[in-house]
Amino acid sequence: MDTYHVVLYIHFLALFVGIGAGAVLLVCLFQLRTAQTLADAVPWGTVAGKTERAFPIAILGLFGSGAYMTSDVWTWGTGWIYISLAGLVLISLQGPLVGGRTGKELERALHANGPGPLGPKARRMTRHPGMWVTEFANLGVVFGIVWNMTQKPGVGGAVAAVVGGYVIGAALALWFSRAPHDELAAAAEPAA
Ligand code: HEM
Repeated sequence: MDTYHVVLYIHFLALFVGIGAGAVLLVCLFQLRTAQTLADAVPWGTVAGKTERAFPIAILGLFGSGAYMTSDVWTWGTGWIYISLAGLVLISLQGPLVGGRTGKELERALHANGPGPLGPKARRMTRHPGMWVTEFANLGVVFGIVWNMTQKPGVGGAVAAVVGGYVIGAALALWFSRAPHDELAAAAEPAA
């Protein structure tokens, strides 16, 4: 046993915290998407709001342990390391600035809706790309970084893994968050 491998273990623990919180958030989004009433939506919105608190722990844990290992054995000029660090900065900003803010907007829309069935505004907010794209694209970037960390490609390959993860994640988010057919049909019908 040496310090490097203990720190690598801590790197994994931080990753598990992030993936665990991301998985809980994913369940919350799918439950919010199908919520019909305020009572259906509120518990999942509440869990999502509390889960967000785990992300700073994961981000600081990954950065701190990664920085130690980089300084110990690798260099900061290593492509797969600095590209992944850029990916980590991207998800650290997108999470609170886009995902978190849209979550607050959803909270306000649910308050404005009041008890009972969810109206069009609140239902639209449960499928807002600001939350869905942030969640899926961030997960995609994380999986891209795991590729970089395990395969250690050159700069081009490392960028492709991070960008590819983002694009695939964003595309899946837009697919999963689209409005159900019946709602689209109702919206297209002329008012009686
Ligand atoms: C979302 C962000 C990150 C994820 C998902 C992640 C994931 C991983 C994984 C899964 C490993 C194990 C690779 C292996 O043992 O083959 C690893 C190792 C490592 N990571 Fe990260 N990491 C992240 C961020 C960072 C950052 C920001 C740095 C640098 C500042 C970094 C530096 C390292 C280093 C130096 C290793 C050791 C590589 C080795 O010894 O083979 N990581 N990371």
